[in-house]
Amino acid sequence: PSLDTIINLHDFETVARKVISEKAWAYYSSASDDEITLRENRMAYQRVWFRPRILRDVTSVDWSTTILGQKSSLPVYISATALGKLGHPEGELCLTRAAQNHGVIQMIATLASCSFDEMVDAAKPDQPLFLQLYVNKDREITKKYVQHAEARGVKALFITVDAPQLGRREKDMRMKFVGEEGVAKVQDGQSDIKKDEGVARAISSFIDPSLSWKDIPWFRSITKMPIILKGIATAEDAILAYESGVQGIVLSNHGGRQLDTARSGLEVLVEVIPALRARGYFPNPNFEIFVDGGVRRASDVLKAIALGATAVGVGRPFLYAFCSYGQDGVEKAIQIFRDEFEMNMRLLGARTIDELVPEMVDASALSSH
Ligand code: FNR
Repeated sequence: PSLDTIINLHDFETVARKVISEKAWAYYSSASDDEITLRENRMAYQRVWFRPRILRDVTSVDWSTTILGQKSSLPVYISATALGKLGHPEGELCLTRAAQNHGVIQMIATLASCSFDEMVDAAKPDQPLFLQLYVNKDREITKKYVQHAEARGVKALFITVDAPQLGRREKDMRMKFVGEEGVAKVQDGQSDIKKDEGVARAISSFIDPSLSWKDIPWFRSITKMPIILKGIATAEDAILAYESGVQGIVLSNHGGRQLDTARSGLEVLVEVIPALRARGYFPNPNFEIFVDGGVRRASDVLKAIALGATAVGVGRPFLYAFCSYGQDGVEKAIQIFRDEFEMNMRLLGARTIDELVPEMVDASALSSH
Protein backbone atom coordinates (compact mmCIF):
# COMPACT_ATOMS: atom_id res chain seq x y z
CA PRO A 1 0.00 0.00 0.00
CA SER A 2 1.19 3.50 -0.79
CA LEU A 3 2.42 5.74 2.01
CA ASP A 4 -0.66 7.96 1.50
CA THR A 5 -2.85 5.23 2.93
CA ILE A 6 -1.04 5.40 6.28
CA ILE A 7 -3.00 7.54 8.71
CA ASN A 8 -1.77 6.45 12.11
CA LEU A 9 1.20 4.64 13.68
CA HIS A 10 -0.68 1.35 13.97
CA ASP A 11 -0.89 1.23 10.18
CA PHE A 12 2.89 0.81 9.91
CA GLU A 13 2.71 -2.36 11.96
CA THR A 14 0.04 -3.80 9.68
CA VAL A 15 2.12 -3.08 6.60
CA ALA A 16 5.42 -4.26 8.14
CA ARG A 17 3.92 -7.58 9.05
CA LYS A 18 3.10 -8.13 5.38
CA VAL A 19 6.36 -6.93 3.85
CA ILE A 20 9.16 -8.12 6.15
CA SER A 21 10.47 -11.67 6.48
CA GLU A 22 8.98 -14.02 9.01
CA LYS A 23 12.22 -13.94 10.93
CA ALA A 24 12.33 -10.14 11.11
CA TRP A 25 8.69 -10.04 12.18
CA ALA A 26 9.38 -12.61 14.90
CA TYR A 27 12.36 -10.66 16.22
CA TYR A 28 10.74 -7.20 16.12
CA SER A 29 7.23 -7.95 17.26
CA SER A 30 8.00 -10.49 19.93
CA ALA A 31 8.04 -9.86 23.64
CA SER A 32 8.84 -12.23 26.47
CA ASP A 33 6.89 -15.25 27.66
CA ASP A 34 3.14 -14.63 27.47
CA GLU A 35 3.55 -11.03 26.25
CA ILE A 36 1.40 -9.74 29.08
CA THR A 37 3.62 -6.72 29.65
CA LEU A 38 3.61 -5.99 25.93
CA ARG A 39 -0.18 -5.74 25.94
CA GLU A 40 -0.24 -3.87 29.24
CA ASN A 41 2.02 -1.18 27.76
CA ARG A 42 -0.87 -0.21 25.48
CA MET A 43 -3.58 -0.76 28.02
CA ALA A 44 -2.07 1.48 30.70
CA TYR A 45 -2.57 4.52 28.46
CA GLN A 46 -6.20 3.56 27.99
CA ARG A 47 -6.78 3.78 31.74
CA VAL A 48 -5.76 7.43 31.89
CA TRP A 49 -8.37 10.02 30.94
CA PHE A 50 -7.96 13.64 29.99
CA ARG A 51 -9.37 16.62 31.91
CA PRO A 52 -9.28 19.16 29.09
CA ARG A 53 -9.42 22.91 29.69
CA ILE A 54 -11.39 25.21 27.42
CA LEU A 55 -11.43 28.82 26.17
CA ARG A 56 -7.69 29.29 26.26
CA ASP A 57 -6.98 30.69 22.79
CA VAL A 58 -5.21 27.73 21.30
CA THR A 59 -4.61 29.39 17.92
CA SER A 60 -0.95 28.56 18.15
CA VAL A 61 0.36 25.52 19.97
CA ASP A 62 4.00 24.47 20.30
CA TRP A 63 5.07 20.93 21.17
CA SER A 64 8.80 21.42 20.74
CA THR A 65 10.95 20.83 23.79
CA THR A 66 14.45 20.26 25.17
CA ILE A 67 15.69 16.78 26.01
CA LEU A 68 18.91 16.57 28.07
CA GLY A 69 19.85 20.03 26.88
CA GLN A 70 19.17 19.22 23.21
CA LYS A 71 16.43 20.84 21.16
CA SER A 72 13.82 18.45 19.86
CA SER A 73 10.91 19.30 17.60
CA LEU A 74 8.82 16.66 19.39
CA PRO A 75 8.69 15.50 23.02
CA VAL A 76 9.49 12.08 21.54
CA TYR A 77 12.84 10.45 20.78
CA ILE A 78 13.53 7.40 18.64
CA SER A 79 14.41 4.64 21.10
CA ALA A 80 17.12 2.11 20.31
CA THR A 81 15.98 -0.96 18.43
CA ALA A 82 18.57 -3.49 17.29
CA LEU A 83 19.15 -5.13 13.91
CA GLY A 84 17.44 -2.72 11.53
CA LYS A 85 18.76 -4.49 8.45
CA LEU A 86 16.69 -7.57 9.21
CA GLY A 87 13.77 -5.49 7.98
CA HIS A 88 15.23 -3.01 5.48
CA PRO A 89 18.49 -2.96 3.51
CA GLU A 90 19.38 0.56 4.69
CA GLY A 91 18.61 -0.26 8.29
CA GLU A 92 18.93 2.43 10.95
CA LEU A 93 20.30 5.01 8.48
CA CYS A 94 16.64 5.61 7.61
CA LEU A 95 16.15 6.78 11.18
CA THR A 96 19.23 9.00 11.19
CA ARG A 97 18.23 10.76 7.98
CA ALA A 98 14.58 11.23 8.89
CA ALA A 99 15.54 12.48 12.35
CA GLN A 100 17.83 15.01 10.71
CA ASN A 101 15.11 16.38 8.44
CA HIS A 102 12.67 16.82 11.30
CA GLY A 103 14.75 17.82 14.32
CA VAL A 104 14.09 14.60 16.18
CA ILE A 105 16.68 12.77 18.29
CA GLN A 106 17.71 9.20 17.50
CA MET A 107 19.11 6.89 20.16
CA ILE A 108 21.66 4.68 18.40
CA ALA A 109 21.59 1.02 19.49
CA THR A 110 24.78 -0.83 20.47
CA LEU A 111 23.41 -3.69 18.37
CA ALA A 112 22.36 -1.61 15.36
CA SER A 113 23.08 -3.28 12.05
CA CYS A 114 24.52 -0.09 10.58
CA SER A 115 27.84 0.76 12.14
CA PHE A 116 28.00 3.55 14.70
CA ASP A 117 30.25 5.64 12.46
CA GLU A 118 28.02 5.19 9.43
CA MET A 119 25.16 6.72 11.38
CA VAL A 120 27.20 9.57 12.80
CA ASP A 121 28.61 10.27 9.33
CA ALA A 122 25.06 10.40 7.94
CA ALA A 123 23.98 12.92 10.58
CA LYS A 124 24.37 16.68 10.19
CA PRO A 125 27.25 18.10 12.26
CA ASP A 126 24.83 19.74 14.71
CA GLN A 127 22.30 16.90 14.80
CA PRO A 128 22.02 15.57 18.36
CA LEU A 129 22.34 11.80 18.74
CA PHE A 130 22.08 9.65 21.85
CA LEU A 131 23.71 6.27 22.37
CA GLN A 132 22.21 3.17 23.96
CA LEU A 133 24.82 1.01 25.67
CA TYR A 134 24.90 -2.68 26.44
CA VAL A 135 27.79 -3.10 28.83
CA ASN A 136 30.36 -5.64 27.68
CA LYS A 137 31.96 -8.15 30.05
CA ASP A 138 35.20 -6.75 28.68
CA ARG A 139 35.08 -3.21 30.07
CA GLU A 140 37.89 -2.03 27.81
CA ILE A 141 35.59 -2.60 24.81
CA THR A 142 32.85 -0.60 26.51
CA LYS A 143 35.23 2.18 27.49
CA LYS A 144 36.55 2.53 23.94
CA TYR A 145 33.04 2.50 22.52
CA VAL A 146 31.77 5.16 24.93
CA GLN A 147 34.77 7.42 24.50
CA HIS A 148 34.62 7.09 20.74
CA ALA A 149 30.95 8.07 20.86
CA GLU A 150 31.70 11.10 22.99
CA ALA A 151 34.53 12.13 20.69
CA ARG A 152 32.13 11.91 17.77
CA GLY A 153 29.71 14.25 19.49
CA VAL A 154 27.06 11.95 20.95
CA LYS A 155 25.08 13.96 23.50
CA ALA A 156 23.91 11.37 26.04
CA LEU A 157 24.59 7.80 27.13
CA PHE A 158 21.62 5.55 27.89
CA ILE A 159 22.85 2.48 29.76
CA THR A 160 20.39 -0.38 29.46
CA VAL A 161 19.92 -1.83 32.94
CA ASP A 162 17.00 -4.20 32.46
CA ALA A 163 18.80 -6.82 30.40
CA PRO A 164 21.40 -8.77 32.44
CA GLN A 165 20.07 -11.62 30.36
CA LEU A 166 17.76 -11.28 27.39
CA GLY A 167 14.15 -12.29 27.96
CA ARG A 168 12.70 -15.41 26.34
CA ARG A 169 10.98 -14.21 23.23
CA GLU A 170 9.42 -17.42 22.20
CA LYS A 171 8.29 -16.35 18.73
CA ASP A 172 11.87 -15.40 18.04
CA MET A 173 13.28 -18.59 19.58
CA ARG A 174 11.28 -20.68 17.17
CA MET A 175 13.23 -19.06 14.32
CA LYS A 176 16.79 -20.32 14.30
CA PHE A 177 19.45 -17.71 13.80
CA VAL A 178 21.76 -18.56 10.97
CA GLY A 179 24.02 -15.57 11.04
CA GLU A 180 23.44 -13.55 7.87
CA GLU A 181 20.59 -11.02 7.40
CA GLY A 182 22.54 -7.86 7.93
CA VAL A 183 23.54 -8.83 11.39
CA ALA A 184 27.11 -9.25 10.25
CA LYS A 185 27.91 -5.66 11.10
CA VAL A 186 26.96 -5.44 14.75
CA GLN A 187 29.69 -3.44 16.46
CA ASP A 188 33.11 -5.03 16.39
CA GLY A 189 33.72 -7.18 19.40
CA GLN A 190 30.32 -6.33 20.84
CA SER A 191 28.76 -9.53 19.76
CA ASP A 192 29.77 -13.11 20.17
CA ILE A 193 27.27 -14.76 17.91
CA LYS A 194 25.84 -18.09 18.95
CA LYS A 195 23.64 -19.92 16.51
CA ASP A 196 20.46 -21.91 17.01
CA GLU A 197 19.05 -19.69 19.75
CA GLY A 198 16.84 -17.16 18.00
CA VAL A 199 18.13 -13.78 16.96
CA ALA A 200 17.97 -12.09 20.37
CA ARG A 201 19.86 -14.77 22.24
CA ALA A 202 22.35 -15.16 19.43
CA ILE A 203 23.60 -11.60 19.58
CA SER A 204 23.47 -10.85 23.28
CA SER A 205 25.89 -13.18 25.00
CA PHE A 206 28.49 -10.42 25.49
CA ILE A 207 26.25 -8.48 27.91
CA ASP A 208 27.61 -8.38 31.47
CA PRO A 209 25.16 -9.69 34.09
CA SER A 210 27.47 -8.56 36.91
CA LEU A 211 26.64 -4.88 36.28
CA SER A 212 25.72 -3.15 39.55
CA TRP A 213 25.29 0.23 41.22
CA LYS A 214 29.01 0.06 42.06
CA ASP A 215 29.81 0.49 38.38
CA ILE A 216 28.16 3.91 38.08
CA PRO A 217 31.22 5.87 39.32
CA TRP A 218 33.32 4.08 36.70
CA PHE A 219 30.96 5.21 33.93
CA ARG A 220 31.10 8.72 35.38
CA SER A 221 34.92 8.55 35.24
CA ILE A 222 35.11 7.56 31.57
CA THR A 223 32.69 10.10 30.09
CA LYS A 224 31.31 13.60 30.54
CA MET A 225 28.14 12.77 28.63
CA PRO A 226 24.93 12.81 30.67
CA ILE A 227 24.24 9.24 31.85
CA ILE A 228 20.70 7.89 31.84
CA LEU A 229 19.67 4.48 33.17
CA LYS A 230 17.25 2.81 30.78
CA GLY A 231 14.94 0.25 32.33
CA ILE A 232 13.99 1.51 35.81
CA ALA A 233 10.81 -0.17 37.07
CA THR A 234 10.30 0.92 40.69
CA ALA A 235 10.42 4.01 42.91
CA GLU A 236 13.16 2.31 44.96
CA ASP A 237 15.48 2.15 41.97
CA ALA A 238 14.51 5.63 40.78
CA ILE A 239 15.71 6.94 44.17
CA LEU A 240 18.95 4.94 43.98
CA ALA A 241 19.49 6.25 40.46
CA TYR A 242 19.05 9.84 41.59
CA GLU A 243 21.40 9.29 44.51
CA SER A 244 23.99 7.63 42.25
CA GLY A 245 24.34 10.97 40.47
CA VAL A 246 23.10 10.04 37.00
CA GLN A 247 21.25 12.61 34.91
CA GLY A 248 18.10 10.68 34.20
CA ILE A 249 16.12 7.46 34.02
CA VAL A 250 13.90 5.74 31.50
CA LEU A 251 10.92 4.01 33.05
CA SER A 252 10.78 1.12 30.66
CA ASN A 253 10.22 -2.60 30.41
CA HIS A 254 12.12 -2.80 27.12
CA GLY A 255 8.96 -2.97 25.05
CA GLY A 256 7.75 -5.99 27.03
CA ARG A 257 10.80 -7.96 25.92
CA GLN A 258 12.40 -8.58 29.32
CA LEU A 259 10.57 -9.49 32.56
CA ASP A 260 7.04 -10.45 31.64
CA THR A 261 4.33 -9.05 33.93
CA ALA A 262 6.58 -6.13 34.84
CA ARG A 263 4.42 -2.99 34.94
CA SER A 264 4.09 -0.42 32.19
CA GLY A 265 6.35 2.62 32.30
CA LEU A 266 3.30 4.84 32.79
CA GLU A 267 2.22 2.87 35.85
CA VAL A 268 5.76 3.17 37.23
CA LEU A 269 5.75 6.91 36.54
CA VAL A 270 2.86 7.57 38.93
CA GLU A 271 4.76 5.71 41.64
CA VAL A 272 8.14 7.33 40.93
CA ILE A 273 7.13 11.00 40.78
CA PRO A 274 5.63 11.24 44.29
CA ALA A 275 8.50 9.19 45.74
CA LEU A 276 11.09 11.51 44.22
CA ARG A 277 9.08 14.59 45.12
CA ALA A 278 8.82 13.49 48.75
CA ARG A 279 12.64 13.49 48.94
CA GLY A 280 13.05 16.82 47.17
CA TYR A 281 14.46 15.05 44.09
CA PHE A 282 11.65 16.20 41.79
CA PRO A 283 11.34 18.51 39.99
CA ASN A 284 15.02 18.90 39.18
CA PRO A 285 16.17 20.17 35.77
CA ASN A 286 19.30 18.03 36.11
CA PHE A 287 17.42 14.77 36.52
CA GLU A 288 15.07 13.95 33.67
CA ILE A 289 12.50 11.20 33.65
CA PHE A 290 11.54 9.40 30.46
CA VAL A 291 9.00 6.73 29.75
CA ASP A 292 8.78 4.25 26.91
CA GLY A 293 6.70 1.28 25.82
CA GLY A 294 3.42 1.20 23.94
CA VAL A 295 3.36 4.84 22.90
CA ARG A 296 1.40 4.99 19.65
CA ARG A 297 -0.42 8.35 19.79
CA ALA A 298 0.47 11.91 20.67
CA SER A 299 -2.25 11.62 23.32
CA ASP A 300 -0.15 8.91 25.03
CA VAL A 301 2.83 11.26 25.05
CA LEU A 302 0.76 14.11 26.49
CA LYS A 303 -0.40 11.88 29.34
CA ALA A 304 3.15 10.87 30.27
CA ILE A 305 4.32 14.49 30.18
CA ALA A 306 1.37 15.71 32.24
CA LEU A 307 2.33 13.10 34.84
CA GLY A 308 5.95 14.28 35.02
CA ALA A 309 7.96 12.84 32.13
CA THR A 310 10.27 15.11 30.11
CA ALA A 311 9.76 13.12 26.93
CA VAL A 312 8.85 9.68 25.72
CA GLY A 313 10.70 7.00 23.74
CA VAL A 314 9.14 5.22 20.79
CA GLY A 315 10.55 1.97 19.43
CA ARG A 316 8.54 -0.32 17.18
CA PRO A 317 6.50 2.29 15.26
CA PHE A 318 9.63 3.90 13.80
CA LEU A 319 11.13 0.49 13.13
CA TYR A 320 8.01 -0.67 11.29
CA ALA A 321 7.89 2.66 9.45
CA PHE A 322 11.34 2.21 7.91
CA CYS A 323 10.89 -1.50 7.27
CA SER A 324 7.80 -0.64 5.23
CA TYR A 325 8.80 2.61 3.52
CA GLY A 326 12.43 3.40 4.34
CA GLN A 327 13.30 6.95 5.37
CA ASP A 328 9.98 8.28 3.95
CA GLY A 329 8.09 6.06 6.35
CA VAL A 330 9.91 7.49 9.35
CA GLU A 331 9.27 11.03 8.10
CA LYS A 332 5.59 10.20 7.75
CA ALA A 333 5.51 8.78 11.28
CA ILE A 334 6.98 12.03 12.59
CA GLN A 335 4.42 14.01 10.57
CA ILE A 336 1.61 11.94 12.05
CA PHE A 337 2.88 12.72 15.54
CA ARG A 338 3.03 16.43 14.65
CA ASP A 339 -0.55 16.49 13.39
CA GLU A 340 -1.75 14.60 16.44
CA PHE A 341 0.11 16.94 18.79
CA GLU A 342 -1.47 19.96 17.20
CA MET A 343 -4.99 18.62 17.49
CA ASN A 344 -4.64 17.06 20.94
CA MET A 345 -2.96 20.07 22.50
CA ARG A 346 -5.67 22.36 21.17
CA LEU A 347 -8.41 20.10 22.45
CA LEU A 348 -6.65 19.71 25.79
CA GLY A 349 -6.08 23.43 26.19
CA ALA A 350 -2.31 23.22 26.49
CA ARG A 351 -0.37 25.66 24.30
CA THR A 352 3.10 24.52 25.27
CA ILE A 353 4.70 21.48 26.84
CA ASP A 354 5.03 23.47 30.09
CA GLU A 355 1.27 23.85 30.25
CA LEU A 356 0.81 20.09 30.53
CA VAL A 357 0.09 19.68 34.21
CA PRO A 358 -1.06 16.69 36.31
CA GLU A 359 -4.55 18.25 36.63
CA MET A 360 -5.05 17.62 32.92
CA VAL A 361 -5.25 13.88 33.45
CA ASP A 362 -7.24 11.54 35.65
CA ALA A 363 -4.82 8.72 36.42
CA SER A 364 -6.81 7.32 39.32
CA ALA A 365 -7.32 4.03 37.50
CA LEU A 366 -3.59 3.35 37.50
CA SER A 367 -3.20 0.99 40.42
CA SER A 368 -0.13 2.52 42.02
CA HIS A 369 -1.81 5.90 42.12
C1 FNR B 1 14.27 -2.97 21.48
N1 FNR B 1 14.68 -2.29 22.61
C2 FNR B 1 16.02 -2.20 22.90
N2 FNR B 1 16.43 -1.52 23.99
C3 FNR B 1 17.75 -1.44 24.28
O1 FNR B 1 18.10 -0.81 25.28
N3 FNR B 1 18.68 -2.01 23.47
C4 FNR B 1 18.34 -2.70 22.36
O2 FNR B 1 19.19 -3.23 21.64
C5 FNR B 1 16.96 -2.81 22.05
N4 FNR B 1 16.56 -3.51 20.95
C6 FNR B 1 15.23 -3.60 20.65
C7 FNR B 1 14.85 -4.27 19.51
C8 FNR B 1 13.51 -4.34 19.17
C9 FNR B 1 13.12 -5.07 17.92
C10 FNR B 1 12.53 -3.71 19.98
C11 FNR B 1 11.07 -3.74 19.61
C12 FNR B 1 12.92 -3.05 21.12
C13 FNR B 1 13.70 -1.59 23.48
C14 FNR B 1 13.41 -0.18 22.98
O3 FNR B 1 14.50 0.67 23.16
C15 FNR B 1 12.23 0.44 23.74
O4 FNR B 1 12.45 0.32 25.13
C16 FNR B 1 10.90 -0.23 23.36
O5 FNR B 1 10.90 -0.58 22.02
C17 FNR B 1 9.74 0.67 23.65
O6 FNR B 1 8.54 0.04 23.37
P1 FNR B 1 7.72 0.19 21.99
O7 FNR B 1 7.74 1.65 21.61
O8 FNR B 1 8.42 -0.68 21.00
O9 FNR B 1 6.37 -0.29 22.37
